[in-house]
Amino acid sequence: MSAFIINGGRPLFGTVTAQGSKNSAVAVLIASIITDGVSEIYDVPDILDVRVCLELLGCLGIKTEFSNGKVTLDTGGVKKTELPHECINKMRASSYLIGAELARFGECTLPDSGGCNFGSRPVNYHINAMRSLGAICNGDRLVCNKLTGNTVRLPYPSVGATVNTIIAASKADGMTIIENTAREPHIEDLAKYLNSCGAEISGAGTACVIIKGNKKLHGGSIKLCPDMIETGTYLIYGLMTHGRVTVKDTAPYQLSSLFDVFDRMGISTEVQKDTVTVYAKNPRSTDITTSPYPGFPTDLQPQISALLGMSDGISHINETVFAQRFGYTRSLSPFGFSCNIENSVLKIKGAQYKKACSRATDLRGGAAVIGTALSAKGESVIENVQLVMRGYSDIVEKLTALGAEIVYKYE
Ligand code: EPU
Repeated sequence: MSAFIINGGRPLFGTVTAQGSKNSAVAVLIASIITDGVSEIYDVPDILDVRVCLELLGCLGIKTEFSNGKVTLDTGGVKKTELPHECINKMRASSYLIGAELARFGECTLPDSGGCNFGSRPVNYHINAMRSLGAICNGDRLVCNKLTGNTVRLPYPSVGATVNTIIAASKADGMTIIENTAREPHIEDLAKYLNSCGAEISGAGTACVIIKGNKKLHGGSIKLCPDMIETGTYLIYGLMTHGRVTVKDTAPYQLSSLFDVFDRMGISTEVQKDTVTVYAKNPRSTDITTSPYPGFPTDLQPQISALLGMSDGISHINETVFAQRFGYTRSLSPFGFSCNIENSVLKIKGAQYKKACSRATDLRGGAAVIGTALSAKGESVIENVQLVMRGYSDIVEKLTALGAEIVYKYE
């Protein structure tokens, strides 16, 4: 059992340094499979999903070293191997093995990738994109003699399908145009890394990415962008405890959709080049719709719901990315969180939180439970927190430095 014991009701004050982006790290690490040589990746967060990626690379014969936020990897000994199931189904990013293994070895077994449970998380867009590049689907395997560039129009700006198509197209013969791509900052990081390895990718961060493929890729390097979801989470923790939290070394432009919501809630947001500070007396209720970047991120939906659950009045959250991403609300109920779910809309009624025992149901839902426990007076216990450690580095140390009373218990 892993648990946090939180003595809540203490306002958080101070400055926290943003970690490097989780979703950039996992995409770049898996993409390294298609390169030949030594790569250096900076600002890698020390989180469980990164550790799982390093284990997977190790199984494929890639040597890795991780210290002080820097991963050095050498793909010299890369070899095709059956990867351990228990590793693959720990995180969604295992689905990037589709593009990486297909481009590297000409075949892949469709991974039963894990990650947070928001109902079904299919990979049909990924598979169809690989087919457009010439792969053939044989049961749970994809194979190809060679990949050939093509125009691929994604039915939805899926992050995973965009990552996989960029990786595979980088080694395909000729030019690939991917339309309706995801525009998240981690897509830009992936392209920056592969370009540093000799790829020719343009347009990353827009809705159309163009790749001149079949390049010999050597090792490369990248400093990952800051993690916008971690930044947003700490800002929300400051607000939930009636404190004043600053996040530094972050990229405020990535969070303009969150700042629009803060504005509607009457929250003061001070933004400088790479620093954000927020504070408020009594945040107001509001309505939010999640959507792909640059819209309001689904990965901040649970945390903002927990904050709205303390405001006066009624709020609505329309979740358009993962219609079933409200499972975490069950873990907020013991604190007094009051809501109704109708289809993809969560209706939240403001209430006063009280201490409780609960458990994390998924990564961001767990982050929301932590915020709720930080705001409720008295001792709360949150179990299953290894799910939160999939995405937040040094969370106990960071919260303690802001003045929280939090203890990690592992048995
Ligand atoms: N979808 C399909 N078919 C597909 C792919 C996606 O129907 O082949 C649907 C999904 O079911 C979902 C929507 O498209 O309804 C969006 O899924 P997307 O592919 O964009 O998400 P993902 O790649 O599985 C990544 C992040 C998630 C984040 C989403 C949305 C990583 C490793 N994961 O997942 O991050 O919520 O994009 O922004 O980058 C998290 O960090 O907590 C997390 C869950």
